[in-house]
Amino acid sequence: MSASSTITVDDKQIDLPVKTGTIGPDVIDIGKLHAKTGVFTFDPGFTSTASCESKITYIDGDEGVLLYRGYPIEQLAEQGDFLETCYLMLFGELPTPAQKADFDYRVTRHTMVHDQMNRFFQGFRRDAHPMAVMVACVGALSAFYHDSTDISDEKQRMIASLRMIAKMPTLAAMAYKYSIGQPFVYPKNELDYTSNFLRMCFAVPCEDYQVNPIFARALDRIFILHADHEQNASTSTVRLAGSSGANPFACIAAGIACLWGPAHGGANEAALKMLMEIGTPDRVKHYVDKAKDKNDPFRLMGFGHRVYKNYDPRARIMQKTTHEVLGELGIKDDPLLEVAMQLEQIALKDDYFIEKKLYPNIDFYSGITLKAMGFPTDMFTVLFALARTVGWIAQWAEMIEDPSQKIGRPRQLYIGPDKREYVPIGQRG
Ligand code: SDX
Repeated sequence: MSASSTITVDDKQIDLPVKTGTIGPDVIDIGKLHAKTGVFTFDPGFTSTASCESKITYIDGDEGVLLYRGYPIEQLAEQGDFLETCYLMLFGELPTPAQKADFDYRVTRHTMVHDQMNRFFQGFRRDAHPMAVMVACVGALSAFYHDSTDISDEKQRMIASLRMIAKMPTLAAMAYKYSIGQPFVYPKNELDYTSNFLRMCFAVPCEDYQVNPIFARALDRIFILHADHEQNASTSTVRLAGSSGANPFACIAAGIACLWGPAHGGANEAALKMLMEIGTPDRVKHYVDKAKDKNDPFRLMGFGHRVYKNYDPRARIMQKTTHEVLGELGIKDDPLLEVAMQLEQIALKDDYFIEKKLYPNIDFYSGITLKAMGFPTDMFTVLFALARTVGWIAQWAEMIEDPSQKIGRPRQLYIGPDKREYVPIGQRG
């Protein structure tokens, strides 16, 4: 593509610079468009709009490629662990053994939360959705950690980043324990990140708890798959909140709120509920027909994606992990997996899905695996938020450190009433 693009507005022609990235589509820099022409661009949902430059994650939706700092997700998920991915996200390079050991040590020693956080939980009903609890408690972290809320201080930004990564599992486990009326379990420093989380969720004071290494490995891989994904809705929310100078805990709480929606991170919970509603393979076709019916709002949850117009590479790894975990549990014919496999087979051969390029996304299989591990459905999006925290915080830091960064403030196309005079109430109607 040439170094500039010409646009004609009324009879005025202007050249707009074109920027080229490392890989992926070029962008037309429209920053001066309004100043030069008086018009805005219009792109609800940002289907053709790049909001920033970033070095963190790259997706090729047509090829089904996902890279974290240039490394293919398949290689990171198969060969690394989640804290290695966290290090990569934050610092841009894979850690040396010494750097990894130091990072693990630092994260591990931030896993406890201020003990007064416990009181927040007492205010919730036991049946509160754990995502509501997480939005509240993560936002409340800014009330405790004043020594890491000055975003202009690089050291404080790093401490806040480590605290967020370290404390999300503890808060998530507390939200789960509170919902089932069991006592909170404190983190144990000798355990690795994901084993620590599993123990905080499933250990009880009455007996020792042995972490199943297959589950720990599978969940750690699931966290890697969920770590970051370019400028998705929740990451864009975190960036926009951060652009006003809000503290990192408040920004992550905003990201958690956005992720909760069923069109986004809430899809893993919705997908499992859908599979349970379908129930048996013979009912799959009825639901596929519902999803194709323009007059029916029903959508196949866990299917489709704004960017992937091919199989989501994460879904492939998720499917493999599902078989591993079910195999470990000796579950041969999980009815939900049967339904999911049948649904995938029918949908991928159906013209509607082929034409609209709708494939399973990361949320399609994750719920089956998490349910098999013992997590309740309403914890699924909490686990997504736990893993995505590193992506949110890395993108937040990248935005803060971007010298060209300014407060995000989109414009609009106004279609409301023209200017009109106020009518006193006594003269109305
Ligand atoms: C995540 O952005 C990210 O990167 C998100 C994520 C991440 O890691 O951060 O990948 C995580 O959120 C994955 C997506 C999880 N959501 C779901 O599984 C919910 C079901 N899927 C959708 O609602 C939908 O596919 C979206 C929201 C994911 C994408 O929506 P788009 O890009 O706005 O596409 P669209 O809604 O305009 O759909 C295009 C067409 C429409 O038909 P037409 O109006 O053109 O005739 O495809 C249809 C849609 O009706 N369609 C579906 C469908 N998804 C889209 N039809 C049936 N079932 C579906 N699931």
